Amino acid sequence: MSDKQSFSVNKLEQTEGRVSWQSPSNIAMIKYWGKKPVQIPMNPSLSFVLDKSIVEITMTYTVSSENRFSLTGFTLNGSKNDAFSLRIEKYLVSLFSYFPFLEYTHIGIESTSTFPHSAGIASSAAAFSALALCLCDIEAGLAGKEPSGDAFFKKASYIARLGSGSASRSVYDGMVVWGNTPLVAGSSDDYAVRLADDEVHPIFTGICDSILIADSRKKAVSSSEGHALMHRHPFKEERIRQVSDNMKNILATLKAGDFDYFGEIVENEALTLHSLMMSSRPGYILMHPNTIIMLEKIRRFREETGTPAYFTLDAGPNIHLIYPLSVKAKMQAFLNDEMTVLCENGQRIDDKAGKGPMKTA
Ligand code: PMV
Repeated sequence: MSDKQSFSVNKLEQTEGRVSWQSPSNIAMIKYWGKKPVQIPMNPSLSFVLDKSIVEITMTYTVSSENRFSLTGFTLNGSKNDAFSLRIEKYLVSLFSYFPFLEYTHIGIESTSTFPHSAGIASSAAAFSALALCLCDIEAGLAGKEPSGDAFFKKASYIARLGSGSASRSVYDGMVVWGNTPLVAGSSDDYAVRLADDEVHPIFTGICDSILIADSRKKAVSSSEGHALMHRHPFKEERIRQVSDNMKNILATLKAGDFDYFGEIVENEALTLHSLMMSSRPGYILMHPNTIIMLEKIRRFREETGTPAYFTLDAGPNIHLIYPLSVKAKMQAFLNDEMTVLCENGQRIDDKAGKGPMKTA
């Protein structure tokens, strides 16, 4: 993807408009942890997008050669949010070379999310992918093109990555890989790619994710700080080697449809992620006591009933319980009887693999 694009301000007549995109959060089965500038992952990762955990961004814009860039307003669920607004403004300014019109644009942003911000579910992935899709949509509109097609989504993934690495994976449905690996043709450190349908067994269609909120407070150590600690991590090289084995095996099992082997890899990735945090210098723990109690109960339930339900964790205390659609009814009873009581204020989101982003205006 070329950094600079030809753009003529002289040709620019005042244009205004409004675009909206809904974009989902995603949950990684193979974890991205550690990065190089600029948002280049230390290792490849694999995820799927969720159905209910969505951010919708509406962007209003006025482009004119008379204008100089400004973020005229930013709201999150109807309220101002200065910290996030500053991050977005910095992000937009960093994108002038990818969207030359931006330098001459007044932009207003309204953002709404269906899940609590910083609850430990990756709201930034949903937010940055929705922002990237809106920007690519405005660009397409100015060029008289449709906001669709391979090149459109590839650029959206690239731009989303610059805001939050995992956001690159939120622009596609299905199983999505971000990070260069010889195991996936066309994979790249710059943007995510979707696995072909015939690479994924039907057992994974409609895969469920019940999100168990153990603690919704803001994390003591952010993901950015955690990524940075991987630079001089004593287990860095071993992690890179391990992830290449896990990626090879998960791709094989995604195709073969062995849900138990898939789940074993998923749990290994989650526990590895948290053990890398604990063994960083300084080390830290993001799990809540109830996280551990729930992990033990999930494993016991699986052993006793043979139900293929496996946990994963992001960089936070909340659990994503992953299981095939075929055992959903059985899982509801377990979740209601044993998990909800361990969730903060009984908060649980029964989600599943979603259809990917959607243009809403
Ligand atoms: O995209 P970031 O910088 O918020 O990093 C997210 C990293 C994990 O959620 C822990 C793993 C992943 O691959 O999503």
